[in-house]
Amino acid sequence: MSRIAYVNGRYVPHCRAAIHIEDRGYQFSDGVYEVCLFVGGRCLDLTPHLDRLSRSLAELRIAMPMSRAALTSVMHGLMRRNRIATGTIYVQVTRGVAPRDHAIPREPLRPATVMTARRFDIEAHRRRQETGIAVVTVPDPRWKRCDIKSVSLLGNVLARDAAAKAGAAEAWMVDEAGRVTEGASSTAWIVDQEGRLLTRSLGPEILPGITRAVILSLAAEQGIEIVELPFSAAQARAAREAFTASTTRFVMPVVKIDGEPVGDGRPGPLSRALIARHWAHVSAETGYVPPAISDFHSASSPLR
Ligand code: PDD
Repeated sequence: MSRIAYVNGRYVPHCRAAIHIEDRGYQFSDGVYEVCLFVGGRCLDLTPHLDRLSRSLAELRIAMPMSRAALTSVMHGLMRRNRIATGTIYVQVTRGVAPRDHAIPREPLRPATVMTARRFDIEAHRRRQETGIAVVTVPDPRWKRCDIKSVSLLGNVLARDAAAKAGAAEAWMVDEAGRVTEGASSTAWIVDQEGRLLTRSLGPEILPGITRAVILSLAAEQGIEIVELPFSAAQARAAREAFTASTTRFVMPVVKIDGEPVGDGRPGPLSRALIARHWAHVSAETGYVPPAISDFHSASSPLR
């Protein structure tokens, strides 16, 4: 079956989906995006994703292209047309088409909206959580408004490319003071030697991750000590545990940083407990129950 995309009000064959060459998103990265995950036909954390899309657009003074209800309905329509129950939806909204000029046109343009759907292998993902991934640290080359989910991702792309060349699955970017900002497409977390959970505080240097907010509330419910402060790359390398988190990675243990094992080189107890809590959140939101979730629940968990 051929893939279907959504472009400016139309469902079209993916291979023929196209936008104008003078779209400002294409020429200036003048646009924003969201990546949402559908599990068994239901969207995970839909409201915060829509809230963040609205906020990103408002920060750039681009109009919301349609109502939230219409956007949600297109997302469902696209999943249905592609016959995907569990998959990601990519939503991109750019300022629209205008003759190339850096200044934002005075008259508002018609925003261009594109959506694509792609299957997500949730079982393979879950198996990956049992082994974890390697990350490398790289200097953060990005602009100073990383809180906007803009399509200007060249810094993230270069960071991820450096990771791939080093045989790692993610890059953790490091600011000029030697502190980790976030992953190329995920938030960064460690458990320090005192057992505290650390992640960088919100600010213009990082994206306000939806999964980040969910993890913080799950950890707080469990009485885990949370420190929302920047941590250094050296602290990360000396951490007891580490993980990286996003809509498509959930809570993903980091077992190697810059070639050195984190802790004993296996997903640690607090990470495993949060993985279990997060799966429970996924199940509550979508009704999906992963086959082997009891493995994590029965793991020696400091949270029970
Ligand atoms: N990326 N930080 C960055 C730079 C990201 O690109 C992402 C997500 C996150 C995690 O945010 P969330 O928990 O809301 O997914 C943090 C998506 C998945 C992507 O670009 O594919």
